[in-house]
Amino acid sequence: MILSIDQGTTGTTAFVFDTSGTLLGRSYSELPNYYPHPGWVEQKAEEIWQVTLRVCAAALERAGIAAADLTALGITNQRETTIVWDRKTGEPVCPAIVWQCRRSAELCAELERAGKAEWLLEKTGLVLDAYFSASKLQWQFRRQPELLARARAGELCFGTVDSWLIWKMSSGRAHLTDHTNASRTLLYNLEERNWDGELLELFECPRSLLPKILPSAGHFATTDPQVFLGAEVPICGVAGDQQASLFGQGCTEPGSIKNTYGTGCFMLAYAGAERPQVPRGLLTTIACDPAGAPVYALEGAVFNAGSAVQWLRDQLGLIEHAAETETIANRVPDTRGVYLVPAFSGLGAPHWDSAARGTICGLTRGAGKAELVRATLESIAYQSDELAQLMAEGLGMEISHIRADGGASANNFLMQFQADISRVRVERPRQIESTAVGAALLAGIGAGIWVAGNMPRCLLEIERDFVPQMEPARRHELVGGWHKAVTACRAFR
Ligand code: G3P
Repeated sequence: MILSIDQGTTGTTAFVFDTSGTLLGRSYSELPNYYPHPGWVEQKAEEIWQVTLRVCAAALERAGIAAADLTALGITNQRETTIVWDRKTGEPVCPAIVWQCRRSAELCAELERAGKAEWLLEKTGLVLDAYFSASKLQWQFRRQPELLARARAGELCFGTVDSWLIWKMSSGRAHLTDHTNASRTLLYNLEERNWDGELLELFECPRSLLPKILPSAGHFATTDPQVFLGAEVPICGVAGDQQASLFGQGCTEPGSIKNTYGTGCFMLAYAGAERPQVPRGLLTTIACDPAGAPVYALEGAVFNAGSAVQWLRDQLGLIEHAAETETIANRVPDTRGVYLVPAFSGLGAPHWDSAARGTICGLTRGAGKAELVRATLESIAYQSDELAQLMAEGLGMEISHIRADGGASANNFLMQFQADISRVRVERPRQIESTAVGAALLAGIGAGIWVAGNMPRCLLEIERDFVPQMEPARRHELVGGWHKAVTACRAFR
């Protein structure tokens, strides 16, 4: 049996699968996020660990097994979130700076003015944006120079959430990450596939802070029974959540595409061993080949998708549960011209505009709750469509279908609207937690239970296919309105 841990931005889920791919038990718990200033997002690393431990125990209990029965475990995680801790005590020395956090936007602007953006894009495949770990780390060290001194003395460790969990599970015996997570830091050289001395210098990052990088499938470490549920479990699969879901969706053929509808939306296209030509606005990132080894993918990252639905629930109180949005959206034939651009933490791909802020356009007196809820769901599809159009350009081909997954992919209204707006078939698998499936598959391959290309098919089965139905003229009109709304949102700063 395999334990798959999906440590996401808003919560952690643990899944227990058997070797036939049957889900035996799962457990989820929310993770607190903190917003100390407009545009800032923080978490507490210790809470990430405690929530993870708790859901692992609960999932095992539901599956009716003990940790000692596990053959291996896999970890997949929110990427880029930056954690720094004391090498001796394992105590975090500052808050975890979440990927959505904009606090280092000015540092990025400084580097932009110094003409570094193109050089960074070439080396890392990433745009110069506060999204990625390096500027978050630099911000922290500029704010607390004493931490930089300690880092230089080798007293501290940096890691994304995967590194942190491996460290905690192994009681500090292993300081490791994998290529997919490393490729999201702005410190990783995409062609040498390692940390890059010039990048470390630019971001004033001492090398001793950094974890060692391993391929996503293989033996990482063994859990310490004193801290991890009384058992020694090999950690055999590690990948950033978006690369894990690409893998879990079976996208290991060049040009195969998935879109994950989570806190944000992340569209990835598998490219293979050759570094692809990537259109401006998209990223190049490291993904996993069928055996879990590092290869390339194109990526488009939208910062706010499911989080906009959460906003309807938590800030506006318009809904009680995300699941209600489907019925509410279907109550009205359209949004009456209302557009919502959920740029709560700026805009990600393809605009990369840190200063943009959320905007609602086109309100008339008749527009109400249903229109606003519908506009929120539609905004997720419009943002994803911008990515799909660029992907098609990058791949030099028409996209015929996209594999959808993540919590919001359960929303039939959203899936149909996506198919209509993007004029592609949207395929939804039976198991929409493809991220966890990917981590389980990587762990199974890493532990030698499964071989590449011969994994349980049931994990990839399609449940429903959404086929485009909208008239081209209508689509054209709607997309035109969306572009105007994005322009309005970027004008308000
Ligand atoms: O790059 C950020 C991404 O990994 C976060 O994923 O699933 O927490 O929205 P999620």
